[in-house]
Amino acid sequence: MVTQQRPAISPDQRLNTAAGSFYLQRLPVNSPRNLQAWDAADELIHDYLVAHPTISKPLLFNDQFGALLMPLAHLSVASVSDSYISHRAWEHNLNLNRLPYQLQSLSPLDPLPVDVDRVLMKVPKSLSLLEFQLARLAAELPPGTPLVAAAKSKIFTPAVRDLFQRYCDQVEVSLAQKKSRLLQARFKAVAIDDSQFINRWSVPELNLELLHHAGVFARNQLDIGARFLLENLPAAGAETVVDLGCGNGVLGISYARTSPASRISWIDESFLAVASTRANVAANLDPAGDRYQALVDDCLSQQPAQSCDLILCNPPFHQEHAVTSHIAIQMFSDARRVLRQGGELRVVANRHLAYHQPLKGLFGTVRQIAANPKFVILSVKKR
Ligand SMILES: C[S@@+](CC[C@H](N)C(=O)[O-])C[C@H]1O[C@@H](n2cnc3c(N)ncnc32)[C@H](O)[C@@H]1O
Repeated sequence: MVTQQRPAISPDQRLNTAAGSFYLQRLPVNSPRNLQAWDAADELIHDYLVAHPTISKPLLFNDQFGALLMPLAHLSVASVSDSYISHRAWEHNLNLNRLPYQLQSLSPLDPLPVDVDRVLMKVPKSLSLLEFQLARLAAELPPGTPLVAAAKSKIFTPAVRDLFQRYCDQVEVSLAQKKSRLLQARFKAVAIDDSQFINRWSVPELNLELLHHAGVFARNQLDIGARFLLENLPAAGAETVVDLGCGNGVLGISYARTSPASRISWIDESFLAVASTRANVAANLDPAGDRYQALVDDCLSQQPAQSCDLILCNPPFHQEHAVTSHIAIQMFSDARRVLRQGGELRVVANRHLAYHQPLKGLFGTVRQIAANPKFVILSVKKR
C-alpha cells in the first residue's frame, strides 16, 4: 500500500452505512461539491453485504469511486471498470481510508477471474456496455453464479430488464428504496461471439471506416459536434498534436490525414475508447512508427508541460449519470499547462455550454472560428 498525506476531507464526503463508515471522494479532484462519490444504489449493496457476510470472492463491476470496494477491501477483490478515473479513484479512496488491500483492477477487455462467489454490479449508463458485461459474465463464469446489481429505479427500463433476463435466470427486482432498486439473479450459460459487441460504420465522404467497442461515445454514427469540428480543423503542420477525449479517434485521424508528418496522441479515460481508437488508427492511417499513440489518462494529468502544439477537443459534459462541466474545465486547464508557447486548443462546444468564460480566464483571448445553430468552434492560444 502507498501511504500518502491524507487530502482535506469535508464531512459530506463520509459514507455511513451498516457496512461501515468510509471517506469517499470523487475524481477529478475539482469535482463540484454537490456531486457525491456514492448514491443510494451503493447503499443498497452495502445492506446486501451486511446480510450476506460469507461472501469471500467478490467481482465488482462499474464501482465508480470505490463505494462498493471499501467494505470489501479486506478480501482479495477483482474490480472491472471501463473508466481509468474509477481505477484511480479506487486507490485514492483506499489510501484515504488507510485500508490495506489486494485489489485486481481490470479493464473490460481483460480476462475475468474464474473463482468468483458473487458479482456485484452498478448498472452502467450505456446499454451496450451493460450487455457486453453481462454476456461476458454469462459466457465465462460457471452457470448459477449469483449476481447482485443496483441502480436508480429509473435505470431499470424494460430494455435493461430484458438484458438481465437474456443472460440470467431467477431475476428478481426489489421494490424501490430511496428511488433505487436491487436486482438479484443467477447467470445462465449463453454462448457469445465477441464481435457482436463491436459496431462498425463508415463516413464515405471522409473515407473513414470506424469501429466501436461497447459503450464508446457516438457508437452508432458520427457525432454532429465532431462533424462540425472536422469542417473547421486547424491548418496542417502542427508538430505534436493531442486528440483529447478521443472516443473513436475521429478528430486526430482526420487531422493526421491532412498533416502526415504530425506526431499524434489520442487520449481518453475510457479503456474501450482507447482500444477502438487503436483499431481505427491502424485501419485508417498509414503506419507511422512511434509517431502515433493512444493512451488512457484523466484529462492530461500524465502529460508533460509544454509538450504539444495543438489540442483538438470535443469535451464531455457527463460523468456517467451526472451532467457536469468540471471535466471540460479540467481539460482546458490541463491544456494550458501542456501546450507550448503559441500552441492552440481548438474546441467544439454546444452553444448552451458556457465555455467562453473559463477559456477566457485561462488563456485571455478566445476566438470564435465558426458557429451554427447548435455549436460553436472556439480557439485559444497559449501566450
Ligand atoms: C463528447 S465525447 C468526444 C469523442 C470524440 N472525440 C468525438 O468527437 O466523437 C468526449 C470523450 O471524452 C472522454 N472523457 C470523459 N472524461 C474524460 C477524462 N477525464 N479524461 C479523458 N477523456 C475523458 C469520454 O470517454 C468521451 O470519449
